[in-house]
Amino acid sequence: MSARYDGVADYYATGWTDDLDDPVTAALFDVLGGVDGQRVLDVACGHGRISRGLARRGASVVGVDLSPAMLGKACELEDREPLGIRYLHADAADPDLLRGETYDAAVCSMGLSDIDDLDGTVANVHRLLRPGGTFAFCILHPCFPGVEGVSGAWPSDSTYYDERYWQADGALSTLRQQVGANHRTLSTYLNTLHHHGLTLTRTAEPRPVIDPSSPKAPAARYPFFLVISCRAN
Ligand SMILES: C[S@@+](CC[C@H](N)C(=O)[O-])C[C@H]1O[C@@H](n2cnc3c(N)ncnc32)[C@H](O)[C@@H]1O
Repeated sequence: MSARYDGVADYYATGWTDDLDDPVTAALFDVLGGVDGQRVLDVACGHGRISRGLARRGASVVGVDLSPAMLGKACELEDREPLGIRYLHADAADPDLLRGETYDAAVCSMGLSDIDDLDGTVANVHRLLRPGGTFAFCILHPCFPGVEGVSGAWPSDSTYYDERYWQADGALSTLRQQVGANHRTLSTYLNTLHHHGLTLTRTAEPRPVIDPSSPKAPAARYPFFLVISCRAN
């Protein structure tokens, strides 16, 4: 299994902390709703910041990720402050993932565009959710066109309609320069959810908080994040 995040685990863990009050994470928890007492699957959990947020809200959490280095950090933090989180090294699209288990909810924070097999992953989410269970996720908005220095959702030498894995070249898109991302149209995301029996229940497009003096400031004029929750049929 290739794990693009192995090489950036230190960088990621330093930049993305357990402060979950940024607009996109707040919107993700908002559309997810209360999780106290629920079994929740954190898909592409990384170093576990969302898993810990869920556990601190009373959920029983399983986190799955492809990157041993990211999971290593998650496990270190779990050892330091035990929250009862179970971490699993696996591909979220593996058809045998957590076979036999059932969850009340699943989340995926900024992970779906890193995952190469969207269809297999969403099929798993549906298989693992109980009927009526919730799937909530957030991604960089697939319609974000980019601004000077900040790459858009798709390559500048391509179009919104061309779906593929690519590595950003914007000088300020430091993470996506290193790990790349899979660009998919909004229709692909929505149709994949529909195809796998997940009915859209809420959407949010939270505005990013960007210092007006920052070189990234013009990005605030465009849709930047997309947050969706769905119900399993
Ligand atoms: C941007 S990080 C998000 C981590 C975490 N959800 C968060 O919000 O901080 C994307 C994560 O997706 C993971 N990932 C990529 N492909 C995956 C796959 N096929 N199965 C599971 N995890 C995957 C990466 O290893 C990485 O940890």
